[in-house]
Amino acid sequence: MSQPGRNKGLSLPSHPRGWIGPVRVWLSEAVAFLEQRGVPEALANAEFIMAAVLKTSRNDVRLGSSHPLDEKQGFHFWNLVKERGERIPLAYVLESQNFMGFDLLVTREVLVPRPETEELVVEAQRRLRSLDRPNPVILEIGTGTGCVAIVLAKSIPRAMVYAIELSPAALALARKNAEAHGVSRSIRFLNEDLFKSAAKAVGWADMVVSNPPYIPSGEIDGLEPEVLKEPRLALDGGKDGLDAIRAIAADAPRHIKKDGFLLLEIGAQQGSAVRDILKKSGGREIEIRKDLQGLDRIAVARF
Ligand SMILES: C[S@@+](CC[C@H](N)C(=O)[O-])C[C@H]1O[C@@H](n2cnc3c(N)ncnc32)[C@H](O)[C@@H]1O
Repeated sequence: MSQPGRNKGLSLPSHPRGWIGPVRVWLSEAVAFLEQRGVPEALANAEFIMAAVLKTSRNDVRLGSSHPLDEKQGFHFWNLVKERGERIPLAYVLESQNFMGFDLLVTREVLVPRPETEELVVEAQRRLRSLDRPNPVILEIGTGTGCVAIVLAKSIPRAMVYAIELSPAALALARKNAEAHGVSRSIRFLNEDLFKSAAKAVGWADMVVSNPPYIPSGEIDGLEPEVLKEPRLALDGGKDGLDAIRAIAADAPRHIKKDGFLLLEIGAQQGSAVRDILKKSGGREIEIRKDLQGLDRIAVARF
């Protein structure tokens, strides 16, 4: 059997029956290929890709390593491995990312949801519960995939979430994700620019939560190749990374009901600057919380 990959100059698992070979062989070829291209955690990446191709779990992939792939599966697997070898984020390759137990559709038009943002959501849940308000209203700024809005809508009873986003493509994806998880009716997605805050109403939200773009413009080009494939709009926080944070904090006193909260994901070096910004905007009980790696990551203030 011919090996189409060879014609394209690819290194493919050699096997007496061409493209048909056991999972184990495909995996070890993929690991070598990915390592050569500097992909971190090559084995985990190869196993996740294999799991997606076989529509099974990563654990089952490991258990079934002697199963053969058929030709179609082998071709599909290797195409995805090739994409990952180009340092395209795994979530874009798989078009999916798990966030707090929810599988979300992911395209190249949105930021890939991160574990740090799960910590932001856990803190938001904790603060909302402490407020103990019936029918809490939440404003999420820069929704991307919709991950924050969706988990809050799923986990906070009778919550109404307003999720704003500048990118129409991201907004369309967030709507799809909300529909898939059955929370379309608890989230209003709005195409708005956080710098042109259109909401005139005062004191309408119990919480404002945001993972805004917060990377200083000058640092973006030095980031990992995978991050450079993500939308600049989702990353670039201006010269010092704090443009969006300043705008959100300035609007917070107008948006947030008495004693409600503002929660922001921030950069590891931004703790003290954000504390000052929040203080100047009238925030109280300001806390800069660390992530699981011990880095400043979440700013909380009461208004
Ligand atoms: C860091 S991403 C966060 C995405 C998602 N909430 C998450 O946590 O994975 C920031 C989001 O803000 C959006 N955004 C950037 N500038 C914006 C603006 N001026 N107005 C509204 N949204 C904006 C980006 O498109 C992006 O989706």
